[in-house]
Amino acid sequence: MQEKTVQVGVIGLGVRGMSILKAILLKNPEVRVVAVCDLYEDRAQKAYELVSEKYAAPIKTTAYGDVLQNGEVEAVFVITDWTTHISIAIEAMERGKAVAMEVGGAYSLEECWALVNTQERTGVPFMMLENCCFDKNELMVMNMVRQGVLGTVVHCSGSYGHDLRPEIADGYKNRHYRKDQYLNRNCDNYPTHELGPIAKILNINRGNRLVSLVSVASKSVGMKEFVKEKRSEDYTDFLNYEQGDVVTTIIKCAHGETILLKLDTTLPRRYDREFRVCGTKGNFNQTLQSVFLDGDDEWAKTKDVADNLDKYGEYLAPVWKNMTDEQRKTGHGGMDGITVGAFIKALKTGSEMPVDVYDAATWMSVSVLSEQSILTGGTVTCPDFTRGKWTLRESKDVIELE
Ligand SMILES: NC(=O)c1ccc[n+]([C@@H]2O[C@H](COP(=O)([O-])OP(=O)(O)OC[C@H]3O[C@@H](n4cnc5c(N)ncnc54)[C@H](O)[C@@H]3O)[C@@H](O)[C@H]2O)c1
Repeated sequence: MQEKTVQVGVIGLGVRGMSILKAILLKNPEVRVVAVCDLYEDRAQKAYELVSEKYAAPIKTTAYGDVLQNGEVEAVFVITDWTTHISIAIEAMERGKAVAMEVGGAYSLEECWALVNTQERTGVPFMMLENCCFDKNELMVMNMVRQGVLGTVVHCSGSYGHDLRPEIADGYKNRHYRKDQYLNRNCDNYPTHELGPIAKILNINRGNRLVSLVSVASKSVGMKEFVKEKRSEDYTDFLNYEQGDVVTTIIKCAHGETILLKLDTTLPRRYDREFRVCGTKGNFNQTLQSVFLDGDDEWAKTKDVADNLDKYGEYLAPVWKNMTDEQRKTGHGGMDGITVGAFIKALKTGSEMPVDVYDAATWMSVSVLSEQSILTGGTVTCPDFTRGKWTLRESKDVIELE
């Protein structure tokens, strides 16, 4: 018997939207793409041609309302720029369409509340596609924490460390959204890749919550020098931009844990999320690809910091242990396919979404809160988007770890 497919529309077909469409949605037998939409006609057309190779008569449009009004569409993938994610997700839920929404920071607490209120009122399934929650190391460490290997977790840290200077500088030429954000805002504009896995480990919104934070931004010179040296003919606008090169945020949690986040996107560097989990029995360090356990005294004395993760293979999530070459090709080594698969599975089985609306609002609101903290120089309070339900909600992992 043929399995029922989920009929989806894709809204936003830039770099990420096309990649998810090509590498995942058009390959997944549980999904049928019935509509594609982008404000740019040429991008919508390119996606339409791709989809048409597989399915007859998909809808192609530049107005996302057409996708939301279409009776065939059961779920939408919202892969637009950061300023439009939440409003499109809200409209989709109002129309009864399940939502898979890409990551990014929020612009106001009001929009985060509106997202939560709409999901609660409509009951329509909603997931934020925070793929780093499903990555190999992050799931392995979560498993180690759940099994008590690292003891009581006291502190976690992570970064979005990614040299994006060419992407930001060439934003208008490439019709990419990031440039305006860097010219006009100063905050941790992309906190969810590192905060998401940490929040899952610390059971945020499920027995724990973010209470307050403070952010500090460095001066802004990375883009200025880059543009002067590498794009002097093309742009002068980056001679004066708002975004601090490195934004550091410290968050306090209800049970006393601390979280350190860093946005570092306009200086030269290698990509690294610098994920660290510090517990009473040991710690995990992604940059060193190592686990250090209490009692590793001999190792502590040597200069050898090399990768020792092979020793801890038993803690890998089954989905990573059994990863096929096909799955690896879905994006970011396989985590993108796992993420979309988790959304489709929850949708088909009617189970809770692994990254739900409370997670989305809490993690995305860090951008707004960090902006306020940088502006005022003070500590700001994190809203409780669960309205107290965090005290009752049970811990739940993003995927089964056993
Ligand atoms: N999870 C990840 O690993 C990952 C990686 C890259 C990007 N992203 C996220 O994906 C999103 C898109 O990133 P990108 O690099 O593809 O950006 P992009 O600028 O290349 O593409 C965004 C597209 O959305 C379209 N769009 C904007 N508003 C729209 C609207 N109202 N209706 C229809 N289309 C609209 C734009 O025309 C553009 O083509 C961002 O939120 C980004 O944070 C996530």
